[in-house]
Amino acid sequence: MKMNQQPLNISFLVLLAASFFMTSCDTADRTHVTDTRVTRSSDSPVRFTELRHPEKVDSVLALMTMEEKVGQLNLLSSGFAETGPVLSEEYRDMIFESKLGGVFNAHTVEHTLDLQRIAVEETRLGIPLLFAFDVIHGHRTIFPVPLAESATWDPELIRKASRIAAKEASAAGLHWTFTPMIDISPDPRWGRIVESQGEDPLLNARFGVARIEGFQGDDLYDVTTILATAKHFAAYGVPEAGRDYNTVDISERTLREFHLPPFKAAVEADVRTFMTAFNEYDGVPATGSDFLFNRILRDEWGFDGFVVTDYTAIMEMMPHGYARDEAHAAELSINANVDMDMMSQIFLNELPGLVDQGIVHEEQVDMAVARILDMKFELGLFDDPYRYSDYDREAETIMREDFLEFALEVAQKSIVLLKNEEQALPLSKDAGHIAVIGPLGDNQYDLLGSWSAAGEWSDNVTLLQGIRNAVPENVRVSHADGAPLDLHDDSRAGFEEALRLARQADVVIMALGEGRHMSGEAASRTTLNLPGAQQDLLEAVHATGTPVVLVLMAGRPLDIRWADEHIPAIVNAWYLGTRSGDAIASVLFGDHNPGGKLTISWPYNVGQIPNYYYAKKTGRPMDPDQRYTSKFIDAPNAPLYPFGYGLSYTTYEYDNLQLSETGISNEGRLSVSVDVTNTGDVTGDEIIQLYTRKMVASVTRPVRQLRDFTRITLEPGETRTVVFELDAAQLYYLDQQLEPVLESGTVMVYVGPNVAETLEASFEVR
Ligand code: NOJ
Repeated sequence: MKMNQQPLNISFLVLLAASFFMTSCDTADRTHVTDTRVTRSSDSPVRFTELRHPEKVDSVLALMTMEEKVGQLNLLSSGFAETGPVLSEEYRDMIFESKLGGVFNAHTVEHTLDLQRIAVEETRLGIPLLFAFDVIHGHRTIFPVPLAESATWDPELIRKASRIAAKEASAAGLHWTFTPMIDISPDPRWGRIVESQGEDPLLNARFGVARIEGFQGDDLYDVTTILATAKHFAAYGVPEAGRDYNTVDISERTLREFHLPPFKAAVEADVRTFMTAFNEYDGVPATGSDFLFNRILRDEWGFDGFVVTDYTAIMEMMPHGYARDEAHAAELSINANVDMDMMSQIFLNELPGLVDQGIVHEEQVDMAVARILDMKFELGLFDDPYRYSDYDREAETIMREDFLEFALEVAQKSIVLLKNEEQALPLSKDAGHIAVIGPLGDNQYDLLGSWSAAGEWSDNVTLLQGIRNAVPENVRVSHADGAPLDLHDDSRAGFEEALRLARQADVVIMALGEGRHMSGEAASRTTLNLPGAQQDLLEAVHATGTPVVLVLMAGRPLDIRWADEHIPAIVNAWYLGTRSGDAIASVLFGDHNPGGKLTISWPYNVGQIPNYYYAKKTGRPMDPDQRYTSKFIDAPNAPLYPFGYGLSYTTYEYDNLQLSETGISNEGRLSVSVDVTNTGDVTGDEIIQLYTRKMVASVTRPVRQLRDFTRITLEPGETRTVVFELDAAQLYYLDQQLEPVLESGTVMVYVGPNVAETLEASFEVR
């Protein structure tokens, strides 16, 4: 045991633990106390926030040395070995030395219990560690990637999926996950679009809140709930050219109107932690931004949880050219009220010296420590540091049968049918010979998608397997990869076998797309082409004359202009996780009627990007007959498939759009109703979308903004009147002084199945 302080004797430790226990056991004590804070002087420049457990936090802080305090601000990662997660010897020693507040990429009861024992039993104060992990779309039962989940347009479904992920993660010793990512992005070149809920602020806000509620539940003291993280603050989704980590340069108006609302919603949903973004905003790296963290997050929104940096982001303020050296970087971040340092170890190494020299106030460090301790109390870790480490619970919870069933439902609802000419789908299960061709046809590994937590690829049901599970035994289901799944390998060695099967088959299902690591972090692309020889394979198989259905799997929209022109049926299946193959097969054979819709405008080609639906109109709106209007000379303005688009095996008719008022004040509200009828032969889910446009304002407004949506199930022939309540408060925008306003004038209302096909009406703001 290494330490620079006299060890406290065991009986003191027991007494200390007992006093934590006594003060924390009482439920009343666990409620939010607002009238006391960490001890501080009244004239301090330090920004304080309310704590939920102020007295308990103060009692621990009072015992801590500066070295122990900065240890709490230090977050380091476990590595991975064949046998599971493992912490390096160097980092392990740091637990003995009270130099770690938490460990991420740490999971399993075995691993976390081992590390927690050191922290609790081998250090002077026995302060428990926080264990964190990127549980982005499931822990061990893997759900569809977030972009796919958002295509359900069903936040309640995703709240339940997150609840399941929380149950599994918490049973594996975890206290904290780095989700939701609520960076909106209109740029599919950016690989992390796969982790977003697409381009729209409202969708990112609703899904972000759903995920937070799913992970944090109603009570963080409940051992099946864990801390969530709103990330990445802020504007990480719009790096120049879609290149990850690149400079972000957007106006404060765009930041506040489009990028911040999901984060504000996260604060209102009581998310307990925030993560800084890697990028700069307005010339200042986010991780040292007084504007983002002090002014907006703490002062304007009153966020009282703690802020963790992204991976080495404090250190990265030096290459940004913002911090002179490590000490300067530490000063900038801690003074921005950033509390925990992921991987840089700069707080640990620099803060004691900065406090000694009077450059950083000790109270500022205390505040950061207090916020982290507060969460440890909130989770009940001082009552029982091992309460998340229960072998029996872990064994009973991981991959429960009902979790797998729910993963199938989410996967089915995430699928978007992009094209279905002449009812090419659904397929008959009696087709004599089905050939599954393509590198994603029998591929377990890539179905996990980007970030797969503790997911194991060998659990995944491939498309080939799903089809075999679905059809009678006498149906022949053959498979050939045909082409490698590699951006840089255009080998045609597999073509011959694939074409031989295609010629023999009654129908070909082509499974093409990207490998899982072609989207996600550091996976930006400058084209959206099908990687390698896949496009040529598709064209060659199509040329055999056998009917082809294209199943796309990817973490972003791809350039599928050729397929859209030549292939009659296209199913966008993203990465759907553990039950992928079963979900896709159920759609191919009509056991599940697809109802998912796009949450991004699917670009026609890469040159159109960014091509989001909430664009401005410009002074020269596109006119195909007028040269000097805002358009391309070699491509349409419209995306290939619009935002909100997706087909079904049935059809819907929209009729009778009604507004309850012709005019309202800027504090009023009105109802918008529409009749939606299932005009086809099968039951289906329809996603009904409400958009508005303020025609004239003191600042120009987007041509459409999503205001509400709902997903309903309709039986054949059934008509439902859908009613949305539209509040004037939802329509406010920022005037030239960036003050919220809703000026008088006409507001157009659009309701329909996607942004490009709507009924319309209008009302006046008086
Ligand atoms: C870097 C990523 O940007 C962030 O989203 C993630 O949570 C951390 N790494 C930790 O894995």
